[in-house]
Amino acid sequence: KKSNILDSFQRPLRDLRISVTDRCNFRCSYCMPAEIFGPDFEFLPRNKLLSFEELERLVKIFANIGVEKIRITGGEPLLRKQLPDLIHQISQVNGIKDIALTTNGSLLKKFIPDLKNAGLNRITVSIDSLNHQRFQKMNGMGFDVEPILEAIDLAHEAGFPIKINMVVKKGINEQDILPMAKYFKNKGYTLRFIEFMDVGNSNGWKLDEVIPSKQILDLIHKEMPLEPIKANYFGEVAKRYKYKGSNAEIGFISSVTQAFCSSCTRARLSAEGFLYTCLFANKSHDLRTPIREGATDKEIEKIILNVWNKRDDRYSEIRLKDTKGLNRNKVEMSHIGG
Ligand code: GTP
Ligand code: 5AD
Ligand code: SF4
Ligand code: SF4
Repeated sequence: KKSNILDSFQRPLRDLRISVTDRCNFRCSYCMPAEIFGPDFEFLPRNKLLSFEELERLVKIFANIGVEKIRITGGEPLLRKQLPDLIHQISQVNGIKDIALTTNGSLLKKFIPDLKNAGLNRITVSIDSLNHQRFQKMNGMGFDVEPILEAIDLAHEAGFPIKINMVVKKGINEQDILPMAKYFKNKGYTLRFIEFMDVGNSNGWKLDEVIPSKQILDLIHKEMPLEPIKANYFGEVAKRYKYKGSNAEIGFISSVTQAFCSSCTRARLSAEGFLYTCLFANKSHDLRTPIREGATDKEIEKIILNVWNKRDDRYSEIRLKDTKGLNRNKVEMSHIGG
């Protein structure tokens, strides 16, 4: 009975990335620069956020039209009260095979048992440097990296597969590439290098601050030889490699130099219930209003199907030809969770 819908480029809908809050306790310059997200910045008021009941209902509707994978994002998702309850509710939905969490790790430690019991499958933690000063500076709030590394080890011991995301910015944390690679190779966690992207309008993105993945690959390969391995699933964002003679792997997320729009199966839901069909979208579709005005499941499904049918997003591919960045008013990363 499950309808497998395709968009205008024949791409199926498989993943839903849910932002559960637009707030974060970090101020990474590439995402929520402190100059813009200052003390007076107005975040969403509570009554505008989708409730867990509303989210669970939407997940059921999305699962019914082909979504199998849920990623919980923010802002910082662990700032949302009772998050494990939501994960538990989602894990009970028919058709959902994988639930992952993207977090900055600062609040992770105390949530590990509850997240495990709730049925969360995987955890991805963003870390841009192992150097105290650079880590403190990049997160904009002076947080230390050690407690985060400790929480990651505990999460791993509790049975969570771990991935680490490192955004690389030229002149800012280039020198951390090799130390990060070595540390996480030893630990057996999958480190992924992410090209600095022009998400939103506030991070002052310039192409000359991007280090192309190819350059990082060459740098690591010289010290620790790598070989490509095949994707885990259709449309995987990261290109995977393993270190020769070991099982440790790393990945490269190269949205700027090697766009991957042609296999993009992702929809994004903002914390206030707006549906985005691209990370760089300049428009969205309000699902909260119909939900709160009493629309039936079928009616909401129809809205989503209509949006997906018409979907023609391929921002990163277009930017490949116009690397100055397209002149559009894009949604902020902290609003849709990347
Ligand atoms: P798994 O493969 O399921 O482990 O997750 P993932 O790599 O898709 O998720 P994660 O949240 O770790 O994303 C890693 C980085 O890739 C983030 O910086 C995202 O913003 C970026 N990313 C994820 N999906 C897309 C996408 O559709 N387009 C672009 N341009 N970047 C994306
Ligand atoms: N470019 C690339 N990656 C980014 N992230 C946040 N902002 C950017 C950006 N401008 C990353 C975070 C997190 C993931 C969800 O997105 O570091 O790991
Ligand atoms: Fe917060 Fe993550 Fe954005 Fe950093 S990248 S400001 S941790 S949401
Ligand atoms: Fe998907 Fe948009 Fe990213 Fe392309 S730029 S991969 S269409 S989210």
